[in-house]
Amino acid sequence: MSAILAVHDLTKAFGGLMAVSDVSFEVQEGEIFGLIGPNGAGKTTLFNMLTGLTRPTAGTVRFLGQDISRKAPAAIARLGMARTFQNIRLFGGMSVLDNVRVPRHALDKVSLWGGVFGTARSRRLERETLASARELVALVGLGDRMDAPAASLPYGARRRLEIARALALAPKILLLDEPAAGMNQAEKEDLSSFIRDIRDRFGLTVLLIEHNVPMVMGLCRSVAVLNFGQLIAQGAPEAIQADPAVIEAYLGVAADA
Ligand SMILES: Nc1ncnc2c1ncn2[C@@H]1O[C@H](COP(=O)(O)OP(=O)(O)O)[C@@H](O)[C@H]1O
Ligand SMILES: [Mg+2]
Repeated sequence: MSAILAVHDLTKAFGGLMAVSDVSFEVQEGEIFGLIGPNGAGKTTLFNMLTGLTRPTAGTVRFLGQDISRKAPAAIARLGMARTFQNIRLFGGMSVLDNVRVPRHALDKVSLWGGVFGTARSRRLERETLASARELVALVGLGDRMDAPAASLPYGARRRLEIARALALAPKILLLDEPAAGMNQAEKEDLSSFIRDIRDRFGLTVLLIEHNVPMVMGLCRSVAVLNFGQLIAQGAPEAIQADPAVIEAYLGVAADA
């Protein structure tokens, strides 16, 4: 395995608040890497910097050997990084299928001109996009809801649809921001095996933010722990779980952790 993502001294200050402070870690190709920490620890801010939505105050992010720390979100997505959001972002009024057809188009350089002039190439791409969107929707278990408006789906299904939408970008790395939030234990277990399945099927690397410690422990090969913007521990799940600094950071939230 080699590092697909290397984060070095990454820092984000919002005024005087150090949301992320000198954070460094590496994610190996093919692994499921867990990023945990209490609310407000800086996890989402870190994701926002990785995906280009937030410009780092300092530090670098290398993805597939390229420095992406100052690139725009679309450029980073094109390199093969896709994400989901802590607060689900779907087009609620659009159909399930159309939600998954959208992102590919966003990256497709020929879509504008090809779409206008109806070239053979654009028509072929259109067919391929539709076929792969249908496949992805079926893969996340929504094959019988293709034409339903996204907003009409139950919560867990919307979470899965958001993952399908990210997968439509054909990413190399998938960033999931608290995908299990609001799920019960059975749903969390389903989601865990689903994440493992898509990792294997698409040869993905997965970076997973999760508040729920047991879920991360069962799923991840390595784990990094953020607290007040700082990386307080990283390593194998067993070592993390026994780390006094981690236990202390989680004391206040032990009941739901
Ligand atoms: N755009 C922003 N402006 C100012 N402060 C922010 C902004 N985004 C996040 N923060 C602050 O940064 C800290 C980390 O937040 P966040 O990254 O959302 O944490 P987490 O995802 O671990 O819960 C919090 O104190 C939060 O209030
Ligand atoms: Mg967050």
